[in-house]
Amino acid sequence: MIEKALEAFKRGEFVLLFDFDDREGETDFAIRSDAVTPQHIVQMRKDAGGLICTALHSQAAKNFGLPFASEILQPTNLAEKEGDIPYDRSNHSSFSLWVNHRDTFTGITDNDRALTVTRLADQVKKTLNGGGDNFAAEFRTPGHMALLRAADDLLDQRRGQTELSIALAEMAGVTPAVTICEMLDETTGKALTKEDARRYADEHGLVFIEGSEVMDVWNARKSA
Ligand code: 5RP
Ligand code: ZN
Ligand code: CA
Repeated sequence: MIEKALEAFKRGEFVLLFDFDDREGETDFAIRSDAVTPQHIVQMRKDAGGLICTALHSQAAKNFGLPFASEILQPTNLAEKEGDIPYDRSNHSSFSLWVNHRDTFTGITDNDRALTVTRLADQVKKTLNGGGDNFAAEFRTPGHMALLRAADDLLDQRRGQTELSIALAEMAGVTPAVTICEMLDETTGKALTKEDARRYADEHGLVFIEGSEVMDVWNARKSA
């Protein structure tokens, strides 16, 4: 199934990415950010319903000067502390800052968010290819796209969809900027179950993949 997921990912299709039964137990839509159109934003907010975020490779985030939100909030007593997140023992979430591309109007429309996301991918590609970056010239904060910063050692360090999606991007050989959104269930008020997420994938011709499958390939590549 991982091959199918990587092919779909390369083609710029959504992959449905479940984390782990012993973690959030959630399924996120995941799509390479350089392929995102306004129609993808519509599908994420209508069919997934969670928070639309863009996960960034840690080196790109560092080059851009993007901190973890918890780091900059450290001087306040609002900052996340170890144990605050019930499904994750690391001491903070992957949330960084929220941005809008400077060419957006309000930043929230489908067109604006697609613009912000695709331009983020452009900058990630540029900075990881040694081309420098122009981050503050292109983006401003606060904004309407939540940025997530992947852990330095990806799945060796943290097992969130932030790291799973960036690991998938690396395996697929595409720019490691991935836009994700949790699938929610409006009838139960909970996350969509794994079974219902699989059903959505079947009905829409999408690939569903679990974190455990990504981990297996990750570990196999390390020992190869
Ligand atoms: C942002 C989140 C989501 O759970 C998203 O999947 C990224 O978080 P994580 O890497 O912890 O899974 O909280 O909407
Ligand atoms: Zn979450
Ligand atoms: Ca998640």
